[in-house]
Amino acid sequence: MKARKINESIYWMGAIDWDRRLFDSLIPLPDGTSYNAYLVQGSEKTVLLDTVDPTMVDVLLSQLASVPKVDYIVAHHAEQDHSGAIPHVLERYKDAKVLMTPKGKGMLIDHLSIPEDRVIAVKDGEVLSLGDKTLEFIFTPWVHWPETMVTYLQEERILFSCDFFGSHLATTDLYVTDEARVYEAAKRYYAEIMMPFRKVIQKNLDKIGSREIALVAPSHGPIYDRPAFIINAYRGWISEEPQNVVVLPYISMHGSTKKMVEYLTSALTERGITVYQFDLVVTDIGKLAIALVDAATIVIGTPTVHLGPHPLVFYAAHLANVLRPKLKFASIIGSYGWSSKAVEQIAGLIPNLKVEILSPVLCKGFPRESDFDALDKLAAAIAGKHKEHNLI
Ligand code: FEO
Repeated sequence: MKARKINESIYWMGAIDWDRRLFDSLIPLPDGTSYNAYLVQGSEKTVLLDTVDPTMVDVLLSQLASVPKVDYIVAHHAEQDHSGAIPHVLERYKDAKVLMTPKGKGMLIDHLSIPEDRVIAVKDGEVLSLGDKTLEFIFTPWVHWPETMVTYLQEERILFSCDFFGSHLATTDLYVTDEARVYEAAKRYYAEIMMPFRKVIQKNLDKIGSREIALVAPSHGPIYDRPAFIINAYRGWISEEPQNVVVLPYISMHGSTKKMVEYLTSALTERGITVYQFDLVVTDIGKLAIALVDAATIVIGTPTVHLGPHPLVFYAAHLANVLRPKLKFASIIGSYGWSSKAVEQIAGLIPNLKVEILSPVLCKGFPRESDFDALDKLAAAIAGKHKEHNLI
C-alpha cells in the first residue's frame, strides 16, 4: 500500500495486516488490523507520528522513500506494533529525534534499545511548532499502557490518538464508511485492552473534550471523520451504568450443565432480560469481552473436574476478573458427579469484580425438577436485582 493523502501536507502511512489473526499471542483478530502512521509536513519541520509493527517495516520504509527529511518521530505508545520500526526510521534519518512521554522514553530504551540521546521527553501540554503547524502533546495514560499520549494538530483540528479509539480492522477505507462494523471492532478493542482503566479513560476524554476535533486519526483501523460517533461510544462504554444483560459463559462435558444453561437462558429471557450465552469450547474471547462491557450480571456455568471448575472456566473467570467490567451481580451454576468445590474456587477467582453473589445452583448428575425450580428462583432473583437498578 502506498502512502495516502489526507490533505496537501498530511499523509496516512503504515501497513494493513489482512492476515494477522492473533495479537499479543492472546487476542483474536477476526478482521486483521492495520498499523497507521501519519506524516505531517510543516513549512519548517516534518514529523512522523508512530511507525508500524516490525513485521511490516519494509512497507513503511518504501513509503518514506520519497521523504528526504524527517525531523521528529512522535511515539505515542511504546508497544511494538507502533514503535517497533522506530530503530529502522532512525537509521534512515540520522538527525531525527523521537518525542515521547518521560515514562515512554524509558520504555523505548528498555524494549527497543534506542539510544537515550535520540529520545526527547516532552511535557504534558507541550507544543511543537513545525512552522505553519502546531502539535500539542496531551498525556493520556492507560490507552493502553501507562506511558501513552496523543497529539493534537491545532490548525487542522486532528487528534492522532494511537490505540485510543482504535479498531482492529483491515480495510482499504481511509475513513469510516460502515459505522456498525467499526463500532463492533472498536468495542472489541476497548473491551480487550482498555476496559480495566475506565476511570482514567474518563479523565482522558475530559482532557481532550475542550478541543474542537475534526478528525480522529487512530493507529489501528480507519480514520473517524465524524468523531462524535466514537467519542460518544466511548462515553457509553466507560459509564458505570450497566444494561439489562446477563452474560453466561459455560462449559458442559456430558450435557448436564448445558441443560441448566439453556433452562436459565429461557427463564431470564421470559423475564425480559437479554442473555449472551457462550460455550467456551468455541467462544471467541473477544466476543465474550464485548458482551461484558455493558452486562449487569455474569452467571458462570461449569461441570466439576477434579473437584473444581473446568480449566476453560478458570480461564474465563480470570479474564473477567482482569478486565474488571461494570458487573453488579454474579452467580454460578453447574453440575458434579459426587462432590464439588467449584463454587468456592470460582468465587476466589473474581476478587476484582465488585459483585453481589446470588445463590448458586449446583446439581448432582443430570438436573431434576428441584434443580429447575432453583434456576427459576435464580432467574427471578436476577430480574429483581435488575429492576431495583431500573434496568428493566
Ligand atoms: Fe496498538 Fe497497545 O498497541
